[in-house]
Amino acid sequence: MVDRDMLEHTSSTNAPSLDRKRVYTSPYNALALSGDLPSAIRIFDTTLRDGEQSPGIALSCSDKVKIAQALDELGVDVIEAGFPIASPGDREAVKNIIAENLDSRICGLARCSRRDIDAAIDCGLDYIHMFIATSDIHLQHKLKLTRDEVVEKAVTAIEYAREHGLTVEFSCEDATRTDLEFLKKMHTVVQDAGVEVINVPDTVGTIGPPAMEHLIRELMTVTNVPISVHCHDDLGLAVANSHAAVRAGARQVHVTVNGLGERAGNAALDETVLGLMAFYGVSTNINTSRIGPISKLVSRLTGYAIPPTKAIVGSNAFAHESGIHVHGVMGAPSTYEAFGPELVGVQRNIVMGKHSGAHSVRSKLSEYGIDLVDEQIDQIVEKVKRLADSGKEVDDAELVALASHILGERESRKVKLKEFAVFTGMNTTPTAMVSIEVNGEKKTGSAIGIGPVDAAINAIKSVMGNDIHLVEYRLNAITGGSDALCEVSVRVSRDGDKTLMSVGKAIGSDIVQTSVDSTMEALDRLYCRKE
Ligand code: KIV
Ligand code: ZN
Repeated sequence: MVDRDMLEHTSSTNAPSLDRKRVYTSPYNALALSGDLPSAIRIFDTTLRDGEQSPGIALSCSDKVKIAQALDELGVDVIEAGFPIASPGDREAVKNIIAENLDSRICGLARCSRRDIDAAIDCGLDYIHMFIATSDIHLQHKLKLTRDEVVEKAVTAIEYAREHGLTVEFSCEDATRTDLEFLKKMHTVVQDAGVEVINVPDTVGTIGPPAMEHLIRELMTVTNVPISVHCHDDLGLAVANSHAAVRAGARQVHVTVNGLGERAGNAALDETVLGLMAFYGVSTNINTSRIGPISKLVSRLTGYAIPPTKAIVGSNAFAHESGIHVHGVMGAPSTYEAFGPELVGVQRNIVMGKHSGAHSVRSKLSEYGIDLVDEQIDQIVEKVKRLADSGKEVDDAELVALASHILGERESRKVKLKEFAVFTGMNTTPTAMVSIEVNGEKKTGSAIGIGPVDAAINAIKSVMGNDIHLVEYRLNAITGGSDALCEVSVRVSRDGDKTLMSVGKAIGSDIVQTSVDSTMEALDRLYCRKE
């Protein structure tokens, strides 16, 4: 059974349950609310099915299990774990995800065919998302079936699935381009055949919000099971269309992490959930503070980078460069943020550039425990502007280097690399040895790692102590070819009364040596710090 309580529970609007201290959206949102909105809706995540259909994504079974665990922690109600008939890999992943005994309900996709349903049953699924296309375009050019044949196929498959004890969520594929009378007929016959939820896919992303609202209201007149919606982003409206569907009566939305999915993708989970909460006061089970971490995890495992300007989780979403904005945000984040980054588990980032002012520089340096007087800050601001004007990126390492120079730190190094060796190859565990002089005293250590860089950094940590942590490691290729130059930036911290942060940066042709050099620079800066 699906969670009907949540799917059917509605309450009057105009009283959004927003925490106004954390969300600073326009007051007109509340004024514009009309009609009945639900207090909560269900989130059906299809990252592992529609998301995995994005070109070039092929997740391993263990990666799928990791994502399913993270989706469960995030609080999604349903995880569409795969399309069991599609491949042995999908079946294995679905079985392994079921074995995790997660709180989220696990679902699998199936066409209206016995083979598909049997494959789902063989995986141990008790919930399937069954679909058949219903638009004339699909009937004529893809299925080559009449409408009556589609009805018959759907009913036969649903009855078969029901006889086997499955909960069925049903989709009329390309619903938003299906003749309305036929779509209503499909809704009537599939609910009579026993489906628990009817999902309305905007398969090719061809509808707009007013039309979506109209369509859902029409379908509500004949549908007595909860309606769900599944929107694609071909025209950039997947999230707006999902919201429109909820306004009109839908009680579940299909989403994906980072908006992955066929072609332009599906409605992004983060934007859908935050918008429902901020604009309509509709809540979900989602623990929003897990949004940033799962977004990063999915990006890493799929190899799909998050565009910097992506709402909520893009690296620019909480980045401020101009002096005016930084000053505003430091005084009151609501000046230039719709909500605080902590709400979605990401960090605010003050970025240096030609628009930076004293507030930005002071605030950024304070992250590294560096406190300068006004004249010193002014000197740095001037240098930052000059560097930015000449097209040079001023990242944290550059900024801290400018400050160290002004402070006269690191005139003589306190942490010096004396010896370094790394041993790696096929069927061997990468191992590194370092010898480091700290305040004149020579210390030696060795360690293993997942790769040679990891081994080298672990060896450094073994010498410098367990209170040293590698907070961030960034590697950029500067030139192409096997002799390419690379740039490595690291951020390290040291535990103590107050945690100290430091950065280092190095350029070289050997990734391992360059990683060691940048780490040594960060550590030396940490030890030279005049606390
Ligand atoms: O977009 C779509 O129509 C789908 C179906 C399988 C429901 O993903
Ligand atoms: Zn889809």
